[in-house]
Amino acid sequence: MDLIVAGNRDDLAKARGTGTVALVPTMGALHDGHRSLIRAARARADQVVVSIFVNPLQFAPNEDFSRYPRTFDADLEVCRAEGAGVVFAPSAVDMYRPDRQVSVCSGEMGTIVEGASRPGHFDGVLTVVLKLFNLVHPDLAIFGQKDAQQLAVIRRMVADLDLPIEIVGAPTVREPDGLALSSRNRYLSAGERTVALALSRALRAGAAELTPSAIRATARAVLDAAGPDLDLDYLALVDPATFKEVGDSYAGSAVLAVAARVGTTRLIDNVVLSLRP
Ligand code: PAF
Repeated sequence: MDLIVAGNRDDLAKARGTGTVALVPTMGALHDGHRSLIRAARARADQVVVSIFVNPLQFAPNEDFSRYPRTFDADLEVCRAEGAGVVFAPSAVDMYRPDRQVSVCSGEMGTIVEGASRPGHFDGVLTVVLKLFNLVHPDLAIFGQKDAQQLAVIRRMVADLDLPIEIVGAPTVREPDGLALSSRNRYLSAGERTVALALSRALRAGAAELTPSAIRATARAVLDAAGPDLDLDYLALVDPATFKEVGDSYAGSAVLAVAARVGTTRLIDNVVLSLRP
């Protein structure tokens, strides 16, 4: 079946097939991580819709909205090769009315950890994701674990607003040397890429420890050892559902998350751990 490219909401409405629909929301610049999301979607639904939209609402004025990589033709090839049925690629005008007033508030969860560094980011993410849900009407939607807090706030929106959509988290895809795949990796020079490897190295080292204090200290030491070319934003060990920091008495699943700037590129990464009492 050939790929249908819907450039606006009317074309999208016509493209909807019968059976179950899985949505893979993206901002384009698709890489192997996105391929794995599309494959996971295909395994679960009759029709896969990939949205490609660089959402202005989730970028602060000082962030990389204007230079965010836009590789539409290559993205279509990825979607075609992975067997997606529909690409929904609306314009900003089609997505947002010029007089729009209402948006989604991500609550306290949207103001901590990544949200503390990027005020308003998760409100922008939730607003566009809710709109995509309303336009595509998916049975399920797939998001990468790489954006762990995004996944958590989306799960929370679905629960709090009673949205009839299953949210599926898909594992982070990494380069053989550990670097998590990201559309922003293409900004890195060869030297910066070497420095950036400290993020995944720190997460691996932290994950080998047993207590939250030791996990934080060991990961922190690896990041400090990377030197001044790595500008650490945060290292956090949090409950995956609330993104609140966990203490030494905590038992259960936890996310060790890191954000750092290497050169002009801001990178995030995380690993999921299981903490014993
Ligand atoms: O993860 C992303 O690419 C974006 O945040 C998303 C979910 C497509 C919303 O714009």
